Amino acid sequence: MKQEAEHIVWHDTAVQKKDRQQRNGHGSCILWFTGLSGAGKSTLANALEHRLFEQGLNSYVLDGDNVRHGLNQGLGFSEEDRKENIRRIGEVAKLFIDAGFIVCTAFISPFAEDRNRVRALVEENEFVEIYVRCALEACEDRDPKGLYKKARTGEISNFTGISSPYEEPERPELVVDSDQLSIDACVDKIIAFLKERNHLPVEADI
Ligand code: ADX
Repeated sequence: MKQEAEHIVWHDTAVQKKDRQQRNGHGSCILWFTGLSGAGKSTLANALEHRLFEQGLNSYVLDGDNVRHGLNQGLGFSEEDRKENIRRIGEVAKLFIDAGFIVCTAFISPFAEDRNRVRALVEENEFVEIYVRCALEACEDRDPKGLYKKARTGEISNFTGISSPYEEPERPELVVDSDQLSIDACVDKIIAFLKERNHLPVEADI
């Protein structure tokens, strides 16, 4: 498909990001959860979002398994497909920032280059990389979807941590050790960090 970008002109919107943020009473950003399958990314993203939502904040979760049922249906787990998966999510997440949302994304996103490309798409303080660190053994013990077992027998190929690499973030904004802390403790840690960095109103009772 040939790109005809030179014939596409950007149209400034009548309502802008700052207007939406002002009305919401909070900023918008991407909380980018990355980590192995089974590390707890979706669980934490959902638990956090629930707390934000309860406080009336505009929030949303984009989750790997769900997005692959729709927007990214048909993409597999080759390096190229994962790259495209993350590229699209980056663009969607950027739209959510523009719409004034705190968007929590839960994707393995195993490649540093792909994550950094998303980081570069948005303003410096709009991308918060949260590494959900969990030992492979613990993820494999949990095996909530039975996928590690299948990866070990070779029924599933290119499985992250088994037959496909995971590149740990070098300088994530935050690390939560999900094999050592409870879900609530991880969420508390994330909220404290977000308040400290003014991503959340300090006075909010979250
Ligand atoms: S990513 O690598 O492209 O970021 P994504 O987060 O969208 O991955 O999807 C990961 C989910 O797909 C896993 O949680 C798991 O349920 C499922 N999955 C199926 N096959 C694989 C595979 N080969 N590697 C990793 N996850 C897989």
